[in-house]
Parts: sequence; structure tokens; C-alpha cells
Amino acid sequence: MSSSTASLIFLNIIILFQCFLPSLSTNSEGNALHALRTRLSDPNNVLQSWDPTLVNSCTWFHVTCDSNNHVIRLDLGNSNISGSLGPELAQLTHLQYLELYNNNINGNIPEELGNLKNLISMDLYNNNFQGNIPKSFANLKAIKFLRLNNNKLTGSIPRELTRLQNLKIFDVSNNDLCGTIPVDGNFGSFPPQSYENNRLNGPELKGLVPYDFGC
Ligand SMILES: *[C@@H]1O[C@H](CO)[C@@H](O)[C@H](O)[C@H]1NC(C)=O
Repeated sequence: MSSSTASLIFLNIIILFQCFLPSLSTNSEGNALHALRTRLSDPNNVLQSWDPTLVNSCTWFHVTCDSNNHVIRLDLGNSNISGSLGPELAQLTHLQYLELYNNNINGNIPEELGNLKNLISMDLYNNNFQGNIPKSFANLKAIKFLRLNNNKLTGSIPRELTRLQNLKIFDVSNNDLCGTIPVDGNFGSFPPQSYENNRLNGPELKGLVPYDFGC
């Protein structure tokens, strides 16, 4: 094989990669959504348009993509869905809005959701989520709205969340949380209503080494 043939083959391989990489990345997002569908019970058929044989999930109802066919919104609030979430949701790396409020979703909140660096809003309120608030949520650098109220969450509010500089709304009311309420960073400005109806011991004392009394 001559060197010019070899370089032609090499060029073809590069072009093939450039053609297929965008659809590959879209497919990993479509696969993540399809995996989510298989976990959920959907008595009202809101996920009927989620056809895994389509190359691209951007045409599915309740899914919004940007101009590069990356999923940026998942709008499944008020959909009467039940079941649980899985780690594959972390494949939606461009996701900005995860709206799952007012459903019957149970199980733990996957810690992998902390990988969603572009997430602006996560609304999981009014479901049956249990277990802890993942410490990994401290990695949600872009998040502004985090509403986890009206679930069955236990454990303490991770102090690591005080690193979230963009957080404007934080609501964990009506759960079964314990320990103290962080006061650093934006946590100094959230209203008491964000925390009501838990087993929380009130704000932590500034200057004292944080300790989860009775948690
Ligand atoms: C929600 O789903 C349940 C079945 O799981 C059904 O009995 C009920 O009517 C549904 N509610 C609404 C508001 O559609």
C-alpha cells in the first residue's frame, strides 16, 4: 500500500468519525432517556412518543433540545409517573432543567445527578423520594433552583451544598431531615419555610465545628 493510499484511508476514517460522533453523543442521551422510560410506570401514557428506534430523541414529547441536538430540558411534572430514577440520567450532560415534580417517583435520588454541570433547575418536589440528599449535588455549579420538598428524605443537609454560589431557591420542607441547617454562603439567605416540617435542630452556630447532633 502506498503512503498516499494510507493517508487517504486515514482521512476517510477521520471524516467517518466526524460524521458519526454527533449522532453517537445524541444516542447516548436517547439511550439514557429510554432507560429512564423502562424504569417508570406510566399509566397516563405521557411517554408514548419515546420511540427508541428513532435516531434522535429531540422529537419526543416532554424533551427539549438545543440547536446541536443535545437534550437541555426534561419536563415531566404532573405526569402521574411512578418508579425510580437511575444513574444513566447523568448521561444527559447538557441538561439544564430536570422537572419531575408532582409525581409518585420513589427510591433514592441517584448521586450521579451531581455530574449535571449545566443544570439550572432540579424540581423533584411532591414525590416519594427517600434516602439522603446526595453530597455530590455540591458539584452542580450552575444550579439556581433546587426543590426537594414534600418527599421522604432522611439524613442531614450536606454542608458541601454551601459551595453552590448560584443557588437562589432551596426548598427541603416536608421531609424527614435531621441535624443542623447550614448558614454559610447563600444558605444565610434562605427563608425558614425552606426547612419547615422536618426534624432539623435549627441553624448551626457560626464559629463552632459543625456537628450533626442527633442525626
Ligand atoms: C394516575 O395513575 C393511577 C394508576 O396508577 C390512576 O388510577 C389514576 O387515575 C391516575 N391519575 C390521574 C390524575 O390521571
